[in-house]
Amino acid sequence: MASYPSTRWLLLSKSFNEGMRIYHKYKFILKKLIKRLRNFKYKSVRSDFIISNGDPIQKKGELIDKEIFNGGPTHNFSAIGRLCLITLLKVGITPDSRVLDIDCGALRGGYWLIHFLNPNRYFGIESNKKMLEVGRKIMLDKETLEYKKPQFDHNANFDFSVFNQKFDFILARSIWTHASKRQIQEMIDEFIANTSSKGVFLTSYIKPYFKEQDYKGDEWVGKSHHSDTPGIVFHSLPWIEKECTKRSLKLIELKFDYFDQIWLYISK
Ligand SMILES: C[S@@+](CC[C@H](N)C(=O)[O-])C[C@H]1O[C@@H](n2cnc3c(N)ncnc32)[C@H](O)[C@@H]1O
Repeated sequence: MASYPSTRWLLLSKSFNEGMRIYHKYKFILKKLIKRLRNFKYKSVRSDFIISNGDPIQKKGELIDKEIFNGGPTHNFSAIGRLCLITLLKVGITPDSRVLDIDCGALRGGYWLIHFLNPNRYFGIESNKKMLEVGRKIMLDKETLEYKKPQFDHNANFDFSVFNQKFDFILARSIWTHASKRQIQEMIDEFIANTSSKGVFLTSYIKPYFKEQDYKGDEWVGKSHHSDTPGIVFHSLPWIEKECTKRSLKLIELKFDYFDQIWLYISK
């Protein structure tokens, strides 16, 4: 009789240890499965969207990577850049639209936009001068630069007014995945002040798995003009919704073109 509780305890702890062993063994698969389940409502880009061989833009991304950070995972450089143009096309961009690419990096998306848009219609802000310089050198030839006349600025305080334009579209790919809530608020306010009445803000984000992952810090996280440390942050949709509602903006979480990050469509 006296040994009964300890036997039960032994059995329990054995099952627990076995459970933990299985969890650790399949942790990776489990995490992937949870991610899939969480994101099942978003329609991913097709797997053949990624061209693995003979894609000249992908080769350019690999060349940039040899010199400097190219904006994200190198193996998807071309696909993510192309996706920016494709999603913008789906939400109404035309060759005559005025587009501001904030934190345009090494022109991963800029390459496609500059070629699509009419001259004097592409504007890019990038605080990392060297990154943009390398991107410009590798992604664009002299003729395209001279004909399309893209304009650039290096301010690091999300000042969209530097070009003195009213934009039709603002693109922020892989930016809210590094910015603090204060910086996002600044970007939203700059969007309101520097776009036409039909202005659209297309931005990507990653939602937190758990409440605690919702980023509360005040700093940019990840590579920048003064940091070489990678990092990523998450922002909850209810918080973004609240910020948009406060400013009478409409927010739609796009369910298509999901590729590691979810697109948000913000309009006036
Ligand atoms: C993940 S990369 C994405 C670049 C580009 N949008 C793309 O999709 O390739 C983030 C970019 O934000 C820039 N950045 C970092 N801190 C910044 C700041 N405070 N102001 C403006 N840009 C910043 C980085 O230099 C980098 O180019």
